[in-house]
Amino acid sequence: MFVLKAGVLGAGTMGAEIAQVISFAEVPVVLVDISAPAVERGRKRIEEIYQRRVDRGRMTASQAQDRLSLLTTSTDLAALGDCDLVIEAVPETLDLKRQVIRSLDSVLSPLCVIGSNTSALSITAMAEGSRQPGRVAGVHFFFPASVMRLVEVVSGEATTADTVETVVSFVTDIRKIPVRVKECPGFVVNRVLMAAMSEVLRYAEETGVSFADLDRATLAGGLVPMGPFGLADQLGLDIVKEVQATLEAAYGPRFGGGAAVAERVARGALGVKSGHGFYDYTGGAADDGR
Ligand SMILES: NC(=O)c1ccc[n+]([C@@H]2O[C@H](COP(=O)([O-])OP(=O)(O)OC[C@H]3O[C@@H](n4cnc5c(N)ncnc54)[C@H](O)[C@@H]3O)[C@@H](O)[C@H]2O)c1
Repeated sequence: MFVLKAGVLGAGTMGAEIAQVISFAEVPVVLVDISAPAVERGRKRIEEIYQRRVDRGRMTASQAQDRLSLLTTSTDLAALGDCDLVIEAVPETLDLKRQVIRSLDSVLSPLCVIGSNTSALSITAMAEGSRQPGRVAGVHFFFPASVMRLVEVVSGEATTADTVETVVSFVTDIRKIPVRVKECPGFVVNRVLMAAMSEVLRYAEETGVSFADLDRATLAGGLVPMGPFGLADQLGLDIVKEVQATLEAAYGPRFGGGAAVAERVARGALGVKSGHGFYDYTGGAADDGR
């Protein structure tokens, strides 16, 4: 099926990025969240991405404005009613994703496909209870979606071949690279990434070496494009914690995050989005908060 209009549910870190990518590919997109401030934060983030492109001479202000005019926002789920594909990007908990997919059932057209941007959860499990589990697939973008080209496309047990084809061709149309992966906790990329992140967290706890030094060491070694602690702050420590919990339950303690992530999440230090995480962002540049 051809996607003439898309929706994104959840205007947070990923939802806003994904809506930007869709509008950039000149597909009309509706961005929905539960509150007006959340929707506004999402819109602002999208405007910033376009502004950066204009500042860097990659597009003109009028081209950016044209793309932005393809974006509409709402706090009402019914605004997604005429979409051909809706991608959910709500927080990484199975109960919430199940509940959201069930609510979507009652507002979407029967032909609309539902994509989940889940990092690690089971597509099969989140589609259980849906009236149409066959239309649910994983569409896993990576942060920052406005830059990263890879998208993991995941079939659950009930996902139909038509659903997968719609998702794969949509991802290609928006100039990303779809890769079909097997359904398993963490799929491919997060299974590998989180194994490394858990190891480096354990190393920091065991040795007391600062997060900044470890980030510098991994960067200087050319191992990664971003140090693991800076990356975790960008991703959101609440998301990292949920993904670690999913992977630890599936694969055992080698995926455990230790106390460093849990303790920060408990006090609301979620990374860049809350101003503090492994680093302090309140003064502009990141500070090693240790
Ligand atoms: N953060 C990342 O780098 C990253 C990368 C890839 C995938 N993901 C996945 O994307 C999803 C979203 O992660 P995020 O980092 O954007 O989270 P986030 O916390 O930044 O944003 C989540 C948004 O969902 C909204 N929301 C909550 N309940 C809702 C509901 N019932 N209906 C509509 N909106 C609702 C919140 O208000 C918030 O704006 C998760 O499944 C996560 O695992 C995240």
